[in-house]
Amino acid sequence: MNLLASGPLCGTVAIPGDKSLSHRALMLNGFASGRARIRGLLASEDVAATARCMTALGVGITKEDDGVIVEGRGGALLEPPDVLDCGNSGTTIRLLTGLLSGQDLLAVLTGDPSLRRRPMARISRPLREMGARIDGREEGGRAPLTIRGGALVNRTFRPEHASAQVKTALLLAGLQGAGTQTIIEPGQSRDHTERMLAAMGVVLRREGLAVSLDGGQRLSACDVDVPGDISSAAFFLVAASILPGSELRLTGVGLNPTRSGILDVLWRMGADITIEEAREVCGEPVGDLIVRSAALCGTIIGGAEIPRLIDELPILAVAAAAASGQTTVSDAAELRVKESDRIATTVAMLASFGAAIFPKPDGFVIDGGVALQPGTVHPRGDHRIAMAGAVAGLLVGCELADPGCMAVSFPGFLSTLSALQG
Ligand code: S3P
Repeated sequence: MNLLASGPLCGTVAIPGDKSLSHRALMLNGFASGRARIRGLLASEDVAATARCMTALGVGITKEDDGVIVEGRGGALLEPPDVLDCGNSGTTIRLLTGLLSGQDLLAVLTGDPSLRRRPMARISRPLREMGARIDGREEGGRAPLTIRGGALVNRTFRPEHASAQVKTALLLAGLQGAGTQTIIEPGQSRDHTERMLAAMGVVLRREGLAVSLDGGQRLSACDVDVPGDISSAAFFLVAASILPGSELRLTGVGLNPTRSGILDVLWRMGADITIEEAREVCGEPVGDLIVRSAALCGTIIGGAEIPRLIDELPILAVAAAAASGQTTVSDAAELRVKESDRIATTVAMLASFGAAIFPKPDGFVIDGGVALQPGTVHPRGDHRIAMAGAVAGLLVGCELADPGCMAVSFPGFLSTLSALQG
């Protein structure tokens, strides 16, 4: 489809529910004892995949006017009658693999071609060390994965990457194992699981980058109000920053410090963003973000900041292309194994607009301020590349292939954007 260059963006956006929290609210409540109401659950393809899988595992999930009701199975899921299709969702397959490792059942988990290309040894290897019987293509390194769950023994793990999906898989297995499970990360990944487990009555201990829990603890269902996804808000933060004359209010955005690295980077680049109505909802910090256009300058992004903004790097690259000066992203090799190789797809997307962007093994360098020309965006099925490309297109116009892939995290993104164009 063809997207035209845009004038300023003005208005208010109620940011759709956080994807990470939506997956967890369904999975943890489905596993817990009792009944929970989830308000603000993200209605997207990834979350629908989790809901389908949990339903196949015997969890009751019903839609009501005021949210979604989850009837938990009290720690005992049912053997699914068929293969579980996790679609495009890495969070679904990795978290479920951890959860099912401790269950007395056989499950086969698969997904779309992108998900079947993504690395799974990072979960299958440690879960096997706990006693889970997991197999899959490339010796358990790629989906489809088969899991024959059973008795698990807890241990101490030091994952190679700061990954909330790996950490969560090991915590969910650890809840069902014997002894103490400890995960010591190389950097702090998002801590939504820890917060939600604590709200469900689980005792966790955190010491620096180590998190531990004792096996055998029961989860009590807990109502969740899902805040807006800062990873979705990110597209509007950058769009309003780079389109002169813009002013947006993004309401109810989750501001968990393990997720809010994009704010620190945009502030460093000179963005005009303020937080209003700061509050706490279900153990998660939330606020409204007011963003006005501003002249941005380049910056250096790397180190411990990367896990706090890993999903926002494609849209930050668009901000960097519109900024003056150079931006360097390092320590982000994990981008290579996301829904697409996001170093390659971000570089190809911005290069099509004539931006000066150069790949590195672990990131990219962008020389900002180069005059852009209308681009051609091939998202390669990656929702975040499609949305980042659409935001770059607001500056000069673009031809966007496969806009439908945005539904993985943000159905209606383009109509929300056009409603702000006055
Ligand atoms: C997620 C963790 C991150 C993130 C993904 C969602 C989660 O992945 O990129 O979009 O919900 O736990 P990693 O755990 O692989 O870093």
